[in-house]
Amino acid sequence: MKDYFVSISSKYDDLRGKEILPPLCNTLERLTNKDSKVLDVACGTGLFLIPIATKFDLELFGSDLSLGMLKTAYKKTGNNNHKVRFLGADVHNLPFPDKYFDVLISTNAIHHFDLVKSLKECARVLKKGGSYVVFSRFREQNDRSFWGKNFPNFAVKENRLYDREEFVDAAEKIEELDLDNINELRFEKQATEEEILAEATNKKYSTFELYTEEEFKESLNSFKNWLKGRKNIHFTSEIGEVIFKRI
Ligand SMILES: C[S@@+](CC[C@H](N)C(=O)[O-])C[C@H]1O[C@@H](n2cnc3c(N)ncnc32)[C@H](O)[C@@H]1O
Repeated sequence: MKDYFVSISSKYDDLRGKEILPPLCNTLERLTNKDSKVLDVACGTGLFLIPIATKFDLELFGSDLSLGMLKTAYKKTGNNNHKVRFLGADVHNLPFPDKYFDVLISTNAIHHFDLVKSLKECARVLKKGGSYVVFSRFREQNDRSFWGKNFPNFAVKENRLYDREEFVDAAEKIEELDLDNINELRFEKQATEEEILAEATNKKYSTFELYTEEEFKESLNSFKNWLKGRKNIHFTSEIGEVIFKRI
């Protein structure tokens, strides 16, 4: 999967939707003040962290396991943005002292982590009363998504996503964290046949890396046949917002 993020890093931003930025900003507005220290764990190319840096006056950090993704993030800041400090780090072993941050965020990434282990580590670096804000597609949302319904085997291959209940159970296992809120967000979207095809052929999601080369080729061919002639495609995109509170 490491190689996938190196290969996708330069085209990642063009392929991914940014609709969660407004709700993420609303949550940050509620949970932060001008003195807050915020870390985006698995910030990738800074798709959300960089717009946050332009909108909020916060002390911002972005960490990620993939140096390829971080390089793209750093380039986007023009190499002179002092507002965000990027660093290579595994979420399961964050190079920060205990109780360092007021807020942690993580978007579209937690399915790459060991849920309980990463939550424990995130709880460690959070101040008491701080929050960990997670945006992640729940497994059940993925199953009924445009890709889950229409791209052959997409829902079966994507075996990493957590369902709503797993977040509830994980919070119960971790003494230092309470589940503060779970929200399900829906966005109405539309795309052309060409845009959808480009997303599939460029492997917009890491899920496509879970196919063998042969399986992917076969699935892509039958998806192309299904897609042919569909001009404007309307669909609903869903995601979960889970907020943990450090107690
Ligand atoms: C789909 S991208 C999401 C990036 C960004 N948060 C966004 O919403 O655009 C998933 C990111 O998780 C990172 N990642 C995967 N496992 C990780 C780990 N154990 N620690 C830190 N980052 C990790 C990958 O390198 C990748 O950049």
